[in-house]
Amino acid sequence: MSRACENWKLEAEGCGNPVYEKLLKCYRSVAEKVEFRPKVALVLGSGLGNYAERIRVVQTVDYHEIEGFPVSTVPGHKGRFLFGYVEEVPVVAMQGRVHYYEGYAMEDVVLPVRLMRLLGAEILFLTNAAGGINPEFAAGDFMLIKDQIASFVPSPLIGPNLESLGPRFCDMSEVYDKDLQELLRRTAKSLEITLREGTYIQLTGPNFETPAEVRMCRILGADAVGMSTACEGIAANHMGMRICGISCISNLACGLSDQPLSHQEVQETADRVGPLFEKLVTAAIINMGK
Ligand code: HPA
Repeated sequence: MSRACENWKLEAEGCGNPVYEKLLKCYRSVAEKVEFRPKVALVLGSGLGNYAERIRVVQTVDYHEIEGFPVSTVPGHKGRFLFGYVEEVPVVAMQGRVHYYEGYAMEDVVLPVRLMRLLGAEILFLTNAAGGINPEFAAGDFMLIKDQIASFVPSPLIGPNLESLGPRFCDMSEVYDKDLQELLRRTAKSLEITLREGTYIQLTGPNFETPAEVRMCRILGADAVGMSTACEGIAANHMGMRICGISCISNLACGLSDQPLSHQEVQETADRVGPLFEKLVTAAIINMGK
């Protein structure tokens, strides 16, 4: 019996529901190539592009090899799953994610996260680059994501619900697991890395925000703004994963500095602090295995 059958009873229920049929098809395509059972699923955002070097990789699967899998169009975003170990902790890492602004349906954007859950991952570790809205933040800071605002993008749960994945009306009172938050604080402290904290807001992109939109986000209670992550948080929470997240503040959000924003600036800051980000993520994953 396949792992999907065992764990999620999807085979029968998925019948006739195109979203879940596609998920199952992708799952089967990966499961027939890979026996590895991950504990932690890691989404590598900007700044963690070289993270493969920190993983004792046992197998990779290119997104292209997975039939029906959404493949990113953003330059610099590699597209593959890495299976391996961070010290002794079995992980699956997504090197490259797809974004809503690329034109994918929300259910495709979150398909990889759902797939990693079906493969056995219990913890989802989300990372991203984000614009700093909180005036105390500086470019190059790291922010522990304590909560999220996803109200400006469609929920990935819209459409028929599959009860075996999660409930129709999904509780969102603790998307970011309190114990994992504490683990990240402890880990950062032990490495003497300053860890800011705050709420992440996802907007659709791909354009950056106007100064007025950034002021709106601040009024709504956001500390950092980006174009990913919160939708993944919803899908993973729906499936009962324990979630944690860190944003790399790659720039001050529009209107907080005189400079116009560019993808290049985002990439440059993310690359600059990348090694420190890698250190933090690695130590946190090792602590998750304890
Ligand atoms: N806005 C939205 N997304 C981002 C930003 C930003 O300023 N920086 C990195 N991703």
